[in-house]
Amino acid sequence: MKFTKTIEVKNIFNKISYKYDFLNNLLSFGLHKLWKRKLVNLLEPLNGEDWADLCCGTGDLAFLISKRVSPMGSIVGIDSARDILNIAKKKSDQEKNKFIKWEIKDVLELNDYSKNFDGICMSYGLRNLNNFEEGIKKVFYLLKDKGRAGFLDFNHSKKNSLSNIFQKIYLRLVVVKISKLFNLSPEYSYIEKSIRNFPEKNELIKIAKEVGFKKAEYKTIFFGQMGILILIK
Ligand SMILES: C[S@@+](CC[C@H](N)C(=O)[O-])C[C@H]1O[C@@H](n2cnc3c(N)ncnc32)[C@H](O)[C@@H]1O
Repeated sequence: MKFTKTIEVKNIFNKISYKYDFLNNLLSFGLHKLWKRKLVNLLEPLNGEDWADLCCGTGDLAFLISKRVSPMGSIVGIDSARDILNIAKKKSDQEKNKFIKWEIKDVLELNDYSKNFDGICMSYGLRNLNNFEEGIKKVFYLLKDKGRAGFLDFNHSKKNSLSNIFQKIYLRLVVVKISKLFNLSPEYSYIEKSIRNFPEKNELIKIAKEVGFKKAEYKTIFFGQMGILILIK
């Protein structure tokens, strides 16, 4: 079961990689950039710190963080889907950004805890992992003491709440319909299912506290459509 989800997710992101940035901009009306910047502002990466962008995709967060932690620190973008990571690499080549390191790896298989990070971020990644608790645990072990982590994702709002209804309408009538124009509707239909299986905010906070994080806060943004989870070890 676990194995199947990993393969399914990897196939989805390899398949949509060539249109990923274009559709992200179109489907969010460019707003995903603001939400990612908000996450980075909340995390306050500092020059000299070591950071990781897990499930980095085409690397938006890694690029934002590289500006904050360079030249003394480091940032690595990690993703398990080769095609989407190649787009991140191509973007950094075009920008002549040699500062960001890119690594192809399944986040749940990161087992080297010898070099701990000051900070870890993940946007729209946690929801795609096989096991959310394992993902949060992994982040805990990869962080230094007092390290901070931030996760941006769709907010799983209460069933039949206004934001839940709006989210469903948006996903079905905007996301799936537009992605259909590019023959990618099965891949984008997956988002609704993945949000349904994703923990609600109180559950995410509970998991983080059980894992050992000292501080866990969740903020909803954009009328409850998205959420940011901030953790401190
Ligand atoms: C929705 S995309 C988000 C990409 C990017 N962070 C962003 O916000 O635009 C989810 C990414 O998570 C990656 N991913 C999913 N499961 C993963 C895993 N187990 N290990 C590493 N990457 C994973 C996918 O390949 C994909 O690039």
